[in-house]
Amino acid sequence: MPTKTPYLCPSCAASVTRGPAALRCDGCGRVFSENRGIPAFANPPRVWQKRGVDAALNEAIRQDGFQAATHEHLDERTRGWACNPRRANPLYVANIGPRTKLLDAGCGWGSLTIGIADLVEEVHAIDVSDERLEFIQLWAEHLELSNVHVAKASVLDLNFQQEYFDAVVLSGVLEWTAEFAQSPDPEQTQRDVLHKARSVLAPGGQLLLMIENRLGLPYWLGVPDEHTDMRFITLMPRKAARLFHRIQKQRPYRAYTHTRRWLVRNLLGAGFSHVKTYATLPNYRAPWNVVDMDSPAAWRAFCNSYQLGSGDSLRRRTATSLWQAVQADPDRWRRVVREFAPAYMMVATR
Ligand SMILES: C[S@@+](CC[C@H](N)C(=O)[O-])C[C@H]1O[C@@H](n2cnc3c(N)ncnc32)[C@H](O)[C@@H]1O
Repeated sequence: MPTKTPYLCPSCAASVTRGPAALRCDGCGRVFSENRGIPAFANPPRVWQKRGVDAALNEAIRQDGFQAATHEHLDERTRGWACNPRRANPLYVANIGPRTKLLDAGCGWGSLTIGIADLVEEVHAIDVSDERLEFIQLWAEHLELSNVHVAKASVLDLNFQQEYFDAVVLSGVLEWTAEFAQSPDPEQTQRDVLHKARSVLAPGGQLLLMIENRLGLPYWLGVPDEHTDMRFITLMPRKAARLFHRIQKQRPYRAYTHTRRWLVRNLLGAGFSHVKTYATLPNYRAPWNVVDMDSPAAWRAFCNSYQLGSGDSLRRRTATSLWQAVQADPDRWRRVVREFAPAYMMVATR
């Protein structure tokens, strides 16, 4: 019995149906290939590649099981964030419940997908990395999660039925999108992604956008930008940053992060009606603390309880002194800290 899927054909935007033998476009008849049950709607020539999941790990999972293989192949630090479903905890600030259909766009290793799957009706996880998608598929099978749907599809296209989702997660992805797009203007590519994310959300649905803050305190203290491995680049005016990047890396600078103000302005510009700012600490990859920076009460409570880790480096001592000053007068500093938090989760409501 053919069943409708939420996917749209990237060639003609008609709906896609799952038949007995294949996934097929109802408009142009295009048949979509599947790799180990993962349909491919996009095939970008170049994909994001960083350390981590590879074919050998996935093969080991098939042979030895998920737990044994991840313990054998991944160090503790990597497992601590990449295979940690607790990373999904911040998503609970959104209106998520048993009827929610959620899209994890640019899902990576899938810890957010897996971490939220039990609480929602459906999760769709898309990425352009075959290895990562296979990894999530194996993880979902290991946990017997039948509501996780994995597909190779691009965040640049978001070929899903309009208004299908109640929540869309873009975690650590927006900044990378321009790296693989042809557009001359990275910011325009990112704005287009925000527009597309809004278009697949139902009215009242929410986009959860996790991203480093271009002005984050760690960068002022000399921590290199995660996307370029370059110090101070995000703090420079874009023109200088582009020149600096071209000289150092011999290629254009396109992995832009942003200030909170840019994010709010462009989320509203994409048609979202309301945007809230949460700080994720220590960063979006390890969001063990999520603070509503628009709420003085939440901020005060956080200041009363949060202890900065200790250490002897100059960087750590500087951060500790600053934090002590903030804790002494939280109300005075909330708006300032909001602009310099290391990373954000912006919750934008359609
Ligand atoms: C830093 S990882 C974040 C992964 C995950 N969202 C998380 O928070 O753990 C960025 C991911 O975005 C994916 N990505 C980059 N550009 C993409 C695109 N155009 N379409 C789909 N995925 C993309 C990469 O393959 C990578 O897995």
